Amino acid sequence: MKKFLIATFLFSFIAAGCAGQSSTTNNNQASGQKASGGNSEQVKVYTMSEIALANSAENCLSVVNSKVYNLTEWIKKHPGGQKAILGICGQDGTEAFTKQHGGGAKFVQTLSGFYAGELAK
Ligand code: HEM
Repeated sequence: MKKFLIATFLFSFIAAGCAGQSSTTNNNQASGQKASGGNSEQVKVYTMSEIALANSAENCLSVVNSKVYNLTEWIKKHPGGQKAILGICGQDGTEAFTKQHGGGAKFVQTLSGFYAGELAK
């Protein structure tokens, strides 16, 4: 009986120890994965007031469909003229862009090359 009690005690001690160890290891792994995943997926989030400040030919941010684009380099290259792009710097250009270009693949693809981040909700 005494042996049985000692065996039971030892068994529960070892079992508890193992459980403790493995959960610690899991926690470490989970936080490790989170940290590395977070770093590689960092997306810049802009507020509308930050975008409003970028309203010039030297610094042009615009929003199309809730995504933020840095169009500074595109101003001088735009086949439809500089004014069209300058007109949407520092503001939401969704309506102007969509009215002119719709959802045409060519335009959407060009636009995606200037992706800078997301608009804060
Ligand atoms: C926001 C980012 C914009 C991008 C990425 C963009 C892209 C383009 C591209 C690639 C072309 C050449 C099309 C071709 O060669 O077939 C073009 C032309 C043109 N764009 Fe834009 N555009 C933008 C905004 C605008 C805006 C806001 C307007 C006017 C309000 C505008 C007016 C025009 C006009 C008039 C043309 C020439 C005619 C045409 O091809 O439709 N664009 N744009």
